[in-house]
Amino acid sequence: MYRTKTCGELRAANIGETVVLSGWVQKSRELGGMTFVDLRDRYGITQLVFDENQNAALCEEAKKLGREFVIQIEGKVVERSSKNPKMDTGDIEIIVSKLTVLNTSEIPPFTIQDDTDGGDDLRMKYRYLDLRRQCVRKNLELRHKMAFEVRRYLDEHGFLEVETPVLIGSTPEGARDFVVPSRMNPGQFYALPQSPQTLKQLLMVAGFDRYFQIVKCFRDEDLRADRQPEFTQIDCEMSFVEQEDIITLFEGMAKHLFKTIRNIDIKEAFPRMTWHDAMKYYGSDKPDLRFDMKFVELMDVLKGYGFGVFDNAEYIGGICAKGAATYTRKQLDQLTEFVKRPQIGAKGMVYARVEADGNVKSSVDKFYSQDVLQKMKAAFGAEAGDLILILSGDDTMKTRKQLCELRLEVANQLGLRDKDKFACLWVVDFPMYEWSEEEGRLMAMHHPFTSPKPEDVPLLDTDPASVRANAYDMVINGVEVGGGSIRIHDSQLQAKIFKILGFTPEKAQEQFGFLMNAFKYGAPPHGGLAYGLDRWVSLFAGLDSIRDCIAFPKNNSGRDVMLDAPSVIDQKQLDELFLEVKDIEK
Ligand code: AMO
Repeated sequence: MYRTKTCGELRAANIGETVVLSGWVQKSRELGGMTFVDLRDRYGITQLVFDENQNAALCEEAKKLGREFVIQIEGKVVERSSKNPKMDTGDIEIIVSKLTVLNTSEIPPFTIQDDTDGGDDLRMKYRYLDLRRQCVRKNLELRHKMAFEVRRYLDEHGFLEVETPVLIGSTPEGARDFVVPSRMNPGQFYALPQSPQTLKQLLMVAGFDRYFQIVKCFRDEDLRADRQPEFTQIDCEMSFVEQEDIITLFEGMAKHLFKTIRNIDIKEAFPRMTWHDAMKYYGSDKPDLRFDMKFVELMDVLKGYGFGVFDNAEYIGGICAKGAATYTRKQLDQLTEFVKRPQIGAKGMVYARVEADGNVKSSVDKFYSQDVLQKMKAAFGAEAGDLILILSGDDTMKTRKQLCELRLEVANQLGLRDKDKFACLWVVDFPMYEWSEEEGRLMAMHHPFTSPKPEDVPLLDTDPASVRANAYDMVINGVEVGGGSIRIHDSQLQAKIFKILGFTPEKAQEQFGFLMNAFKYGAPPHGGLAYGLDRWVSLFAGLDSIRDCIAFPKNNSGRDVMLDAPSVIDQKQLDELFLEVKDIEK
């Protein structure tokens, strides 16, 4: 028997017991004729003591142990003289009477402890060692627990978990597909699913009524902190439902996760905001509502006083940072540099401080009388000590997005984005379409299977860009944790939507014939939603990147540095697939 206990479970109540433990040597140190070894396994760390006075030979053996050796010991649990309240097992230690080295280890490339000395690349290359660190492992334990609670909740609500294939045809969802060549069908390719969207809809046609799947999805898109090329969705679909049914059920699931994972009881309904308001007041379809700083439009207040930048602007808007009038000139200059960075693209920033006497002092005082500045102050409801920051531009949407970046940056600086505080929100009434400069046509904002709001259907013929969709996203702390829609279940309406999206009937038939044909055989009204599991876990774990809750993630260039993937393949493999690689240099 390799062990009778784990390294995380011994307490004062076990004092006097003889136990067998197995694990890895975290570290060892010698002190006055004793050798102390921290023994680690998944469950924790236990201190071992080898006493020269009791067993000199064994103590010599212990001195030879290196970091990460795998050992088995037998010994007696005793009370520690100097207790360690930071450790679960800190009340006890083991006086070792028997030691077996199960395996040796080379010196690891970095120290395996929470505050490791290993840089990112090194830790990713040796991810199996990185995963031995308690802080990394804890994220995966949380992930397991969340997936378990998701299954429990959905099972209790009558959902069936059904697996859908990974080798499918392309499902257009806005990103590029990862493709897989088919040896048996030369010149033809599978696509890995960006999501099982069409398949779950076919399961509804098949009468499954309530489907879910915790499923890998693949998108070949640029990576960010909350994006990986392969990620996991909690994918769900339901029949005979309206938007309200879906929102109720999945808000319930969110509350279940808050309760079971974070012990947070949320009684009240999540607030809802239309997409239009989210863009108008926060410049984002995923506003972070942990703090206020709602945009105030200032066109009426500040236009027409001879300040050219504002006089020529299509949009002037600002935010009010409570109590931030103490910002120094240097800090304000840095904020101006921040909004001028190419990724944000503002031309400049105007600021105004509300002074102790209520007067407003701005960076453009020479154009504005105190009267006008007071009107501006009133528009924000600003008080003494507040700081007003203003951006303007010739494109309303672009300027709002810049103001959104400024709002988030200021909130970061003011410490308003507390990771232990949660602000949940449904964003509803998304537009059906958005204009794509790249494609030169309207594109589906969510996906082409989303249904329009019934009252907006007549607009499909006259003004498609203004049609709103039966689509909704759940946003927590400025992160889109999930999204879904009520689907079209009528093949004629679906054909019309494809037409607006620029598909010829032939092209629509070629790409989506399987779905449109299925809709001819009694498709029920249906809709659904997919949550991003990685994003949920990183929110609850307080992580900056979803990478840290994925066992083997990709780096920012989409590479797995441990497996050295992607990689070139043999000519023989290419030949079998009838593939030729172009000269990449050219
Ligand atoms: P959507 O594209 O909004 O909808 O995706 C649903 C959720 O999946 C998560 N997500 C990601 N997480 C990590 N890395 C990525 N690259 C990534 N992309 C998306 C987000 C997002 O909210 N089929 C529809 C759902 C539906 O309509 O039912 C879909 O995939 O949390």
